[in-house]
Amino acid sequence: MRKYTVALIKGDGIGPEIIDEAVKVLDAVSVKEGFEIAYKEALLGGAAIDVTGEPIPPETIEIAKSCDAVLFGAIGGPKWDNLPRDKRPETGLLKLRKALEVFANLRPVQVYDELLNASTLKPEVLKGTDLLVVRELIGGIYFGQPRGYEGDRAYNTMVYTKDEVRRIAKVAFEIARKRNRKVTSVDKANVLEVSQLWRDTVEEVAKEYEDVRLEHIYIDNAAMQLIRDPRQFDVILTGNIFGDILSDEASMLSGSIGLLPSASIGEKYGLYEPIHGSAPDIAEQGIANPIATIASAAMMLRFQFSEERAADRIEQAIKQVLKEGYRTKDLSSFDAKEVVTTSEMGSLIAQYASQI
Ligand code: IPM
Ligand code: MN
Repeated sequence: MRKYTVALIKGDGIGPEIIDEAVKVLDAVSVKEGFEIAYKEALLGGAAIDVTGEPIPPETIEIAKSCDAVLFGAIGGPKWDNLPRDKRPETGLLKLRKALEVFANLRPVQVYDELLNASTLKPEVLKGTDLLVVRELIGGIYFGQPRGYEGDRAYNTMVYTKDEVRRIAKVAFEIARKRNRKVTSVDKANVLEVSQLWRDTVEEVAKEYEDVRLEHIYIDNAAMQLIRDPRQFDVILTGNIFGDILSDEASMLSGSIGLLPSASIGEKYGLYEPIHGSAPDIAEQGIANPIATIASAAMMLRFQFSEERAADRIEQAIKQVLKEGYRTKDLSSFDAKEVVTTSEMGSLIAQYASQI
């Protein structure tokens, strides 16, 4: 029997409820496909602060590193908003990404035909959109030194080295080869030196991938093009902060931020999480959409464990429930046949995934 260990980090807000649904679905498909997953829970964010005083206790990093993959919900909330930056929940997540060296954050954006009316954009603009944001995750302005807040002056540093750009660019080109062979690199090279280095380095890497088309665009233009004509994109390659912003924008193409999964990968470890946050305002009401987390679990099966069939089952099941008109509250006004709770959505996906 194939056996895997997964570190489960539920986190805060809606984190615990959406992770529970992902586990439900993973358990259903593992039975069908004949493998076993053992879970180890670990604390992060506000949940960790409440127990240990730290947003990421050392034990969490140990557990994460000792498992075959990490499945993570969400962190943060008003309760911890006024803590100093190094004690905030977000700092815990950034430290976890850094400790696991997961430099490549893959955020696929698919528009489900069933939800074409759910977006604020016109269906004819969206139909067939299928793009992937490849975001550099452990460098750039999030981590650059020096940084500080001193009296009336505060600063951060946006820095990239050629090595950092090279390794993320390679990931983007490799994936583009398996998709539609187009990479759009997003920067601000008309203003920033760090973006000029980004662009020069991406050009160098592109020489090894002559079968992939490369285009460079500025971040402001990218933000506009993404809603003007999203189908022009295949793989969007970008740095940490631009990728953070563009991926939230891109989520609206699909109709709800509650749908988009992500995989963060490096040489060794893999961290799987929805792109949305902890949504404290809707926590514990049974209305959160668990699909982004369930789809992240499918990415984990595919990328980390090569359990392609189990991943396919989950992805098909998600399409099926949407097709049949089951909707959580975020999508309840769009062709809903039945509005279901977080847990009912998880059970439906688990059930369909087992039947396929
Ligand atoms: C995300 C989040 C995080 C980020 C926050 C919570 C630190 O917005 O995963 O996109 O900015 O990376
Ligand atoms: Mn974000």
